[in-house]
Amino acid sequence: MKGVVLAGGTGSRLYPLTKVTNKHLLPVYDKPMIYYPLQTLTEAGIKDILLVSGRGHVGHFLELLGSGSEFGVRISYEIQKDAGGIAQALGLAQRFAGQDSVMVILGDNIFQDNVGDAARSFRSGAMIFLKPVPDAHRFGVAEVDEVNGRVVSIEEKPARPRSSYAVTGLYIYDSEVFDIISSLKPSARGELEITDVNNEYLRRGRLSYSILNGYWSDAGTFESLYRASELVREHRLGAGQGMIPADVKPVITL
Ligand code: DAU
Repeated sequence: MKGVVLAGGTGSRLYPLTKVTNKHLLPVYDKPMIYYPLQTLTEAGIKDILLVSGRGHVGHFLELLGSGSEFGVRISYEIQKDAGGIAQALGLAQRFAGQDSVMVILGDNIFQDNVGDAARSFRSGAMIFLKPVPDAHRFGVAEVDEVNGRVVSIEEKPARPRSSYAVTGLYIYDSEVFDIISSLKPSARGELEITDVNNEYLRRGRLSYSILNGYWSDAGTFESLYRASELVREHRLGAGQGMIPADVKPVITL
């Protein structure tokens, strides 16, 4: 299985932080945001990774990540000229993927789980990763039949979510995904939507799901960027387990 990190888009929701730099280079606690999705892929055992980014910033990613050897992986680069949507960005990975399946991760998604088991057990079709959240209307939302273990519906940012399960920015696809992407039409917001890809797999009866246990956050808004830093920091310092060492000093002293 190969890996694809999608780090295109405009980052407009984080303006002016993104006026002169790319969203995925901003810090999440003590590392550039892009390190986290890369780590999720490498922890899953993936060694061959394509990073898709916008035209203006590809040089910065190259300077930061290089060939990937520092992380024990091989990183290739592809440019998405315009922010035409997540599915459009993934379409650029067709030649890289060849006949292999791909684990795809959004560059602004921070996961705690190790998804290596899911990667190893994947055979064909598509798999999405779900997390219950209090603000599901901000995401793709999946309704699931937990008795039969199947997805019933997926809606992109519904005003009235049918469940609390956010579809996180982590997906596994077989090579059929590229035919599906080439048949997509732009949505009302002018993008090729990853939710339309997942719905096509659902229609074909080839979509499975997994529910994440660990924390998850996107980092594409001021609030979620702040929260992502907080989650990483708490976990790093062991706060989640009530183990903050007594000698930990506040990080910022005014
Ligand atoms: O965070 C998970 C959510 O991500 C999912 O629940 C939604 O179903 C999915 O549509 C997406 O929603 P967002 O509206 O939050 O996606 P956003 O436009 O912020 O893009 C997220 C990442 O995808 C971004 O950090 C880089 C990549 N991307 C996005 C676009 C629009 C690209 O590589 N190219 C693009 O053209």
